[in-house]
Amino acid sequence: MARVVRFLAVLVVGLGLLAWGGFRIISHTTQAWFEKDLTLRAQLAVNGARWALAARWASEDAAAIRDILAEITRDERIMAAAACTADARSLAATSEYPGQFSCRELGRRVRPNAAAPPDQWRTVGFDAEITGGNVHISVVPLAGDEGVLGFVVLVHDRAFIDRREAKVQELILIAFLILAASASLITVVAARLFWKGWTREIRSFLRGGPQRREFQPILRDVRELIERISAERALEGEGGAWTPRRLVQTLTEHLHGEKVIVLANREPYIHERGPDGALRVVHPASGLVTAIEPIMRACGGVWVAHGGGSADHDTVDREGRIRVPPGEESYALRRVWLSAAEEQGYYYGFSNEGLWPLCHIADTRPLFRREDWAHYQAVNQKFADAVCRETESDDPIVLVQDYHFALAPGMIRQRLPRATIISFWHIPWPNSERFGICPWREELLQGMLGSSIIGFHTQFHCNNFLDAIDRYLEARIDREQIAVTHQRHSTRVRAYPISIEWPNRWLADLPSAEECRREVFRELNLPPQTLLGVGVDRLDYTKGVEERLGAVEQLLERHPEFHGRFTFVQLAAPSRTLIERYRQLNDNVERLAARINQRFASGSYRPLVLLRAHHEPPTVFRYYRAADVCYVSSLHDGMNLVAKEFVAAREDLRGVLVLSHFAGASRELTEALIVNPYDMEESSAALAAALRMPVEEQQERLRAMRSLVAAFNVYRWAGRMLLDAARLRSKDRLFGRLSDASGRDLAGTR
Ligand code: G6P
Repeated sequence: MARVVRFLAVLVVGLGLLAWGGFRIISHTTQAWFEKDLTLRAQLAVNGARWALAARWASEDAAAIRDILAEITRDERIMAAAACTADARSLAATSEYPGQFSCRELGRRVRPNAAAPPDQWRTVGFDAEITGGNVHISVVPLAGDEGVLGFVVLVHDRAFIDRREAKVQELILIAFLILAASASLITVVAARLFWKGWTREIRSFLRGGPQRREFQPILRDVRELIERISAERALEGEGGAWTPRRLVQTLTEHLHGEKVIVLANREPYIHERGPDGALRVVHPASGLVTAIEPIMRACGGVWVAHGGGSADHDTVDREGRIRVPPGEESYALRRVWLSAAEEQGYYYGFSNEGLWPLCHIADTRPLFRREDWAHYQAVNQKFADAVCRETESDDPIVLVQDYHFALAPGMIRQRLPRATIISFWHIPWPNSERFGICPWREELLQGMLGSSIIGFHTQFHCNNFLDAIDRYLEARIDREQIAVTHQRHSTRVRAYPISIEWPNRWLADLPSAEECRREVFRELNLPPQTLLGVGVDRLDYTKGVEERLGAVEQLLERHPEFHGRFTFVQLAAPSRTLIERYRQLNDNVERLAARINQRFASGSYRPLVLLRAHHEPPTVFRYYRAADVCYVSSLHDGMNLVAKEFVAAREDLRGVLVLSHFAGASRELTEALIVNPYDMEESSAALAAALRMPVEEQQERLRAMRSLVAAFNVYRWAGRMLLDAARLRSKDRLFGRLSDASGRDLAGTR
């Protein structure tokens, strides 16, 4: 309906413009006609009286001439008249003749130029205004037997012209309205008839009826759309919300309860021995762990990871296995041991000095060393072998995580050609030019294409990946199915935005928001009226911590009302500290924090609190709950789960999220205050706006974000990938049967 109204409005405006143009032309033409008519009338009147006037001219009989002029003005449209001699003297004039039109002045008009002899004089006419209305003046030369005697001036009443013009305008307007109404009516009726015919065709096609050729492309699109919608429906449909139970059901129903094997570098539970010899379990600060761990708790299976904790060896069996979570033991953690050289080359070197900066736009150059690459290859093989040892069938489901294992999918595929391998790249994928920096780009892409499905957080990253394939590999890209076929194997590429568990397990035992706030304020020694900002990150240069502190500094500079009232606490988990760039960052952040405190601290007031240590999830969630504002300022981030965790923590619907535009989460959490973290003006203004935001607005924004994260939780993320995998597996089985039956290998067409 809105479209019809819009279309009609455009039509009416178009016709209006047309009518306006036509109207201008018509009124111009009619006016010219009327004026010509007046001139002719004037000439006729003067010619009629010519002999009578000529006879009195020589004697300059003013009274007689005035009588003749009075006779001329008996025409109701001629108001007044005057007679002037050839040398522009006034001879006679009727009583109503307006004095402003003197013979001298009109004499100049009747002559084409000052030197023109009287036989070249021409009749002229012009419009003028006198008190009482508009008039038209005609100046007509008067010829006698011996040549031109002088000229006669006639003053016409223009009122009748104006009246006629108004009438013409009125008629044009009516004609336009009739035209517009009929054009709209005809268009709407024609469109309705066309639409009816069109929908009839579509319906008949959907019922299996005959197809007209011209409809085929559009019908193909409709069919695809229907298929997509019904696939989504099947996914979202009957099952209701995504929960751990629903995820397990999906696994049982669609994947016959197949064991899930996760391969990720970071382990979910690290066993450390403290200086006192006591054993403790550490939950690492890792978005990957935050997302995958709840999936494993729900589905069971095995998580293959690097055993990097100081007490990891002491807590596993002979195969390097331990059941986790401690006390719950719902799945197995299989630890793989790395030598110091392997860890240096594969983890610190190739993964974190090479691939990490390669994939993030954060002004740190990637470093690629040949020895690191050798370690990366060897360690990928080591983990791929460990995964293969964990399988119980020849077609297991393997979830390969992140940039540490770009080669593993190809290696696993070699040993288990029928495996369903889902790889997920947790960080951004760069544009193909940047990706081309990597000296082993082809090998990395080939390794990844061992996967059945490759997932990224956003479609944008999927597109970048396809561009890289296009540029650096001999492969067929099917942009309709979004799949790549390389060496007779096909890989789907899909966007699966990752999320967190909902409800969140760390919230179950957490005190209320007020209690958390009291505890945190006590710990930080803050007066109760303090406004608290919080940042939670690994100390990584992609997180924009320096920019964040810069924004806090500018907030205090620009808004003195927050001096003494606003404190920002940064929870910063040391990360990858063997890498020089991370040590630099650490020093920069310390320096910045010290500078801010030096500039703005007073008495017991400290505007910036830097807590540089690993914090366990219950502590992190307490800070989320205590804060008035949480600032996530990533310079480039695949998703960023801190943003989603903050939203989950705020069951009280209080607090404001300020979120970087460069974090994938900003595409979903649109009710956050979205900022460019590089722009200090903008981000400090957003912090100020957050601190001043009325409670109702905070509630409204949080309500919207919470319902989104609740629905789009991590169970849905995993569920969608598993369902896609299930579809692929049944397709593969079908193809397998067909190729067995026909004796041909159809794998390449999959
Ligand atoms: C990012 C990566 C994860 C990684 C996490 C922590 O989120 O995508 O794979 O686990 O950072 O980094 P770390 O090097 O400590 O595992």
